[in-house]
Amino acid sequence: MQRVFSGVQPTGIAHLGNYLGAFRNWVALQASHECIYCVVDLHAITENWQTGGTLAQQTREMAAMLLACGIDAQKHILFAQSSVRAHAQLAWIFNCVARIGWLNRMTQFKDKAGKNRENASSGLYVYPNLMAADILAYHATGVPVGEDQRQHLELANDIAQKFNHDCGTEFFPRIEPLIMGPAPRVMSLRDGTKKMSKSDASDQSRINLTDDPDTIALKIRRAKTDPEPLPSEARGLEHRPEARNLVGIYAALESVDHAAVLREHGGKGFGTFKDTLAALLIDKLRPIAAEARRLLDDPSSVDAVLRDGAQRAAAIADPIVAEAERLVGFLRP
Ligand code: TYM
Repeated sequence: MQRVFSGVQPTGIAHLGNYLGAFRNWVALQASHECIYCVVDLHAITENWQTGGTLAQQTREMAAMLLACGIDAQKHILFAQSSVRAHAQLAWIFNCVARIGWLNRMTQFKDKAGKNRENASSGLYVYPNLMAADILAYHATGVPVGEDQRQHLELANDIAQKFNHDCGTEFFPRIEPLIMGPAPRVMSLRDGTKKMSKSDASDQSRINLTDDPDTIALKIRRAKTDPEPLPSEARGLEHRPEARNLVGIYAALESVDHAAVLREHGGKGFGTFKDTLAALLIDKLRPIAAEARRLLDDPSSVDAVLRDGAQRAAAIADPIVAEAERLVGFLRP
């Protein structure tokens, strides 16, 4: 059975992009794969974070949201990254394998560091090395992510290959990005050329998984569109990023493709389509938000899930990372 690994940063409330690009697929893969899912709190501190318990609470809330979406933490594994030491240990080795030239090509670092590059943390720069360690510490070969993570996964393969070459082994497997479904890149509701993101200043740009029905309906009604009605074929969505985005969201929620949505809704104006889309979103998201709230009524139960997950994760990762250390040649007196 193929082992899959994926992670999400606890840097804010999960949004529809996380859900359609990642979480839904994580849930689906549980039927056929051995799944390890992680709230990546070590990654979360690469950018400004608030001390004083906020990170711990955000980690707990993200874990509750994943459980509410349908992650089965008994059959599979859910844990917080910082509680399994193997991630940071392997990441250090990978810091010494990855070349600076490779990291310089990472578009996410350029986007996140922006103009203030000199002031970015060195952790943000080596972020992809830690991501490679997350996956390879488990010898996972499938990685379900949204489209925005593709470049990081290519780098992880480069790191694995160089490690294997330098150590003269085939120790780390090749990993395969699992980029699934009709919405691998959900765009901002305010600008169809920008991805939906937790860090966008405008809350109107995204649907948070905790938004109440009125907020969802309002955000969809206000979503940017163009004046034309919906096309009746998928190629009519070319050069219409906002229309394409809303159709993609609808298609993902209904588990169909763009063409099927347009067969049903082609020719309609956006007013009608947005009403149907908002109703569908509310229908799908309301039970998830309610379940996350219910789980957080008893925070210790979420913490217990994470504690158990960390133990089971460490039992897989520790021997793999110990072997990587042996291959590097550390003295183990
Ligand atoms: P993060 O926390 O930004 O996002 C978590 C997952 O959600 C997907 N996603 C999207 N998919 C479609 N449309 C969007 N607008 C959108 N926004 C986010 C992301 O692609 C991701 O799958 N670096 C990762 C976390 C990570 C990781 C890993 C992932 C750390 N280690 C190891 C896989 C394997 C990140 O910041 O995801």
